[in-house]
Amino acid sequence: MNARKPVVGGNWKMNLDHAGCSALTQRLLVEVSDMADAVEVLIYPPFPYLHKVWGVIKDGGSSLRLGAQNCCHHPNGAFTGEVSLSMLRDVGVSVVLIGHSERRHVLGETDGLINAKVKAALEADFEVTLCIGETAQQRKSGQTDAVNAAQLRGALEGVGPGQVARVVIAYEPVWAIGTGQAATAADAQAAHAVVRRTVAAMFDPQVAEALRIVYGGSVNKANATELFAGPDVDGGLIGGSSLEAEAFLSIIRTAAGAVDHQEVIRHQ
Ligand code: PGA
Repeated sequence: MNARKPVVGGNWKMNLDHAGCSALTQRLLVEVSDMADAVEVLIYPPFPYLHKVWGVIKDGGSSLRLGAQNCCHHPNGAFTGEVSLSMLRDVGVSVVLIGHSERRHVLGETDGLINAKVKAALEADFEVTLCIGETAQQRKSGQTDAVNAAQLRGALEGVGPGQVARVVIAYEPVWAIGTGQAATAADAQAAHAVVRRTVAAMFDPQVAEALRIVYGGSVNKANATELFAGPDVDGGLIGGSSLEAEAFLSIIRTAAGAVDHQEVIRHQ
C-alpha cells in the first residue's frame, strides 16, 4: 500500500447548463465532504459557470475543489477569448487542467504551449492536473512509452522539484477518451509505472514516489475498481461518467476504498 491520497476529477468539458452545473454540484457536496479523509475530489465545470459553482461549494461548506479546464499563460492584455490565472483565482479556482488531449489534438496545443501554461500556473500557486497520452496509432506502432515520456519531459521542462508536489499527472490514452473502450488495468498500470520512472529520472525518486498519477479514458462505475487497483494508479479523471451524480459518486467511493486509509492519515 502506498501513502498517496487518491484524487478523482470530474471533467465536464463543454456540457451542462447553468442549472445543470448547480444541481450536480449540490448533489456532490455532502457525500464528498464525508469522504474527505480518504479521497480528494475536484470538478472542472465550463468557464461561464465557475463563479456560480464556487458559490454552491462555499455555501455548502464542502471540501469539493474547483478546477478550470484550461488557462492562458499570459497575465493580462490583448488575448481575445482567453482567461487568465488571476481571473480564475477570483472565481474560486485552485487547480488547472492542462494538456488535455482534446486541446492537444482538436485545438492544436503544442508541448511548448503546454509547458508555458504549466509554468505560469505553478508560479501563480495553482495546482496542475497535467494530461498526457498516446494515440491509437502510436500505441499500435510501439511508441506508447516514448510518447508519454516525451510529453512529460516537454510539459515539465523548467519546473522545479518543489513545484512537482503541486502536479497530478492524468494518463489518458487518446483512443480511450469518450469511446467506451477503457485501457485494461494492466496497460494503465504499465503506463503509470513509466510515468513514475520518468519523473524519478527527471527529478528524484522521492518526488516520483509522492506524485499522484490518475487514469482517464472511459472510466465508469463498473471498471473503476479494477482500474484503480494498480499500485501506481492514484484515482481517475472522469469525463462522461462525471456528468451523472450517482455514477460519479460511485467512482469516487471506489477510489476512496482503494487505499489503506490509515496509511494516508498517518502521512498527512
Ligand atoms: P471520458 O473522458 O471519461 O468521457 O472518456 C475522460 C477525459 O477526457 O478526461
